[in-house]
Amino acid sequence: MIALGIETSCDETAAAIVDGDRRILSSVVASQLDRHRLYGGVVPEVAARAHLELLQGLVRQALDEARLDFDGLDLVAATAGPGLIGGVIVGSTFGKALSLARSLPFLAINHLEGHALSPRLSDNVSFPYLLLLVSGGHCQLLAVEGVGRYRRYGTTVDDAAGEAFDKAAKKLGLGFPGGPAIERAAKTGDATRFPLPRPMLGRPGCDFSFSGLKTAVAHAVDALGHAPTEPEQADLAASFQESVAASLADRTKNALRRFTDEHGSGHALVVAGGVAANTRLREVLAELARTHHTGFVAPPLALCTDNAAMIAWAGIERRILGEEDGLDVAPRPRWPLDAEAPPAPYAGAKA
Ligand code: KG4
Ligand code: ZN
Repeated sequence: MIALGIETSCDETAAAIVDGDRRILSSVVASQLDRHRLYGGVVPEVAARAHLELLQGLVRQALDEARLDFDGLDLVAATAGPGLIGGVIVGSTFGKALSLARSLPFLAINHLEGHALSPRLSDNVSFPYLLLLVSGGHCQLLAVEGVGRYRRYGTTVDDAAGEAFDKAAKKLGLGFPGGPAIERAAKTGDATRFPLPRPMLGRPGCDFSFSGLKTAVAHAVDALGHAPTEPEQADLAASFQESVAASLADRTKNALRRFTDEHGSGHALVVAGGVAANTRLREVLAELARTHHTGFVAPPLALCTDNAAMIAWAGIERRILGEEDGLDVAPRPRWPLDAEAPPAPYAGAKA
């Protein structure tokens, strides 16, 4: 089974070809960073137009690199939400048109499901497993029990972890995207010089909160009375990174306990999403898994950040179960993986 995957839910335009034996025949990603950097964040309208401009060429490139033509495909899978709706409409409509023209089954994929199933593509992880999904748009702990069977243990009540990195970096004058900039600056920093709060630490449950930490960074910068010097940037970045890692690990610890109660031991802890690139976060999670006698899986970076291979793979997993979507399926700006989870506590929080 060979799938074409299409991803356009945020600021990466991506196309990939994946087969049923977990081989990624091609995976191309065009970052739109340069188009958004000017604004210090992703501008939805700019993103939608860029997807429209880039997608056709990327699909062609993905087919060429895989040495295939449309005839070689067995299905088309495109992200149909959640995300910036303009981009989601571009990608899913493109996928539908292709499936109609080529008489191929169309699979409308939940972007979060793409992330959730990616460790099965990279590491053949078996169900169930506990997933910490941390990116610019999402921050969730999910029990992944099977294809289409996800239980959300916790989500952010305000900002996503990557969003917090981006906002803190902006305040520190470190540029966009913030995560890599903070990690770089933190390398030479002293995490103890500006103690910052560690959100939700010690509280029951698995929810996250990062807006207080973001405000604390802003106050620390304002208290300096001048733009932070390079050493100050480094110290604040180190302290911030340490706080985020500690907070994520603390919430994951609660989730691991609950997961083990419900599913028994011997299952993996998986981290995915752009923030999973963070070395310090990987360290604390690996340590947490060790103390819980749990395996730890972090898919390769190219599969952690937004990509279309994970979308193609989710399409394959669904198709194997005999699924197919109609061409009338609607793109969705919000689309929680666990329909039974209560809505996030505050308006504006990520589903
Ligand atoms: O998954 P992703 O590529 O896109 C989505 O948001 O879906 O994640 C991007 C996010 C950004 O907020 C970026 O700042 C963060 O991941 N990020 C990092 C690192 N690399 C990327 N955060 C912390 N440390 C990093 N090394
Ligand atoms: Zn994502």
